[in-house]
Amino acid sequence: MQKPRGTEDLFELKARDFFALEMIIRHVVDLYNYKEIRTPIFEMAELFKKSAGVNTDVVAKEMYIFNDKKNREFALRPEGTAPVVRAVLENKLYIEEKLPLKLFYFGQMFRYERPQNGRKRQFYQFGVELIGPDSIEADTEILCLAVNVLNSLGLQNYKVYINYLVIKEAREKYILDLKKQLSNLKLCDDCNLRIISNPLRILDCKIDQHKFNDLINMKEYLTNEQKQYYLNLIKSLNNLEIKVIEDNLLVRGLDYYTGFVFEIKDENGITLVGGGRYNNLVGELGGNNLPACGFAFGVERLITALENKKISISQLAYLDAYILAISERAKTFSSILLLMLRSAGFRTDYNFMNKNIKSAFKYSEKLNAKNIIIIGDKELNEGIVIIKEQDKKNEIKVKFEEIVTHISRSGEK
Ligand code: HAM
Repeated sequence: MQKPRGTEDLFELKARDFFALEMIIRHVVDLYNYKEIRTPIFEMAELFKKSAGVNTDVVAKEMYIFNDKKNREFALRPEGTAPVVRAVLENKLYIEEKLPLKLFYFGQMFRYERPQNGRKRQFYQFGVELIGPDSIEADTEILCLAVNVLNSLGLQNYKVYINYLVIKEAREKYILDLKKQLSNLKLCDDCNLRIISNPLRILDCKIDQHKFNDLINMKEYLTNEQKQYYLNLIKSLNNLEIKVIEDNLLVRGLDYYTGFVFEIKDENGITLVGGGRYNNLVGELGGNNLPACGFAFGVERLITALENKKISISQLAYLDAYILAISERAKTFSSILLLMLRSAGFRTDYNFMNKNIKSAFKYSEKLNAKNIIIIGDKELNEGIVIIKEQDKKNEIKVKFEEIVTHISRSGEK
């Protein structure tokens, strides 16, 4: 039996890294006063069709869809924004007194993509959604938070790409002009389909993108008000020393965006986070219109970026004490000792596999145990244990009542 393609088993250091990363991120979002929301891992497939859009790759090609016993169509969630908006509407979280809603989530998403570096079929996203305000301050907060997460992790060599999407009537005019220009270019098979179904998506094409440098800039289709907003947003970010690169080909892979969009890439060009403003989604999913913006990080991509930079975010794994009982009576006593040390806050483990002394010593070295506590009948009778202090290569006798103090002193040195 093997794991499904594009998935990963997490254990040992990687599991610790995931945990450590989540803790750091939780700390940062807490500073910005975001509250956690957990939504189901599967939803009605219709939710994603209506939100992300039926002509996007995420919905048309990558969704894990299944029918339940009552033949209803469900999908494993490919992203977190639509489920959050669904939950906000269903639980009536949108009432005036509760606004703005500042929500964050951390969980698995599923996309049937061709597995490769940074592209998995099951991956974790950490995302935030800021629902209620429609302002430069809100957009600034979102981007600032994304950058803050990266800085807190020690990932500094990133680039922030930003764009402002044309919307409403202007989009139709822009798309018409875009199509005219694209008809002069030789496009890949996918783009030839997209030109009919969803021309904006073409700009995102990894194969053809290099041909698009001379295409009309969508910025020219913005209203004066939108242009001013975009300018002020960039200014506001610059004031916070967040340098942004304007990228008029940045369209994002989901249809719900309605204005400012952004992506942050690491030095290898891998997109770590993407997001933007989506002012119509709440209305499109059945609520009164409520503006919103947000982003999501790919957690595995963050971990890889940290590995590439040799940044270790989880503490070096170690044990404060490893207990080795060498008689039947000592084994009984060990349970008490384990409880005592763990209650005092020490990471402690025990020779559960009954390894002989030599193998147990070797094993404790692998666990990076600072102290090995040895007890046999002789020690029990004397009311002591033997502690082998690994870093000092020292062996001392310690009275039962002094074990905790001794272990805590060894941690200080
Ligand atoms: P997205 O760009 O589709 O946006 O995904 C966000 C991030 O998830 C990407 O930048 C990437 O780091 C990670 N990601 C996407 N697909 C994969 C994959 N197959 N394997 C590994 N990582 C992946 C969204 O999902 C939007 N919901 C973001 C958002 C929130 N916009 C507004 N609010």
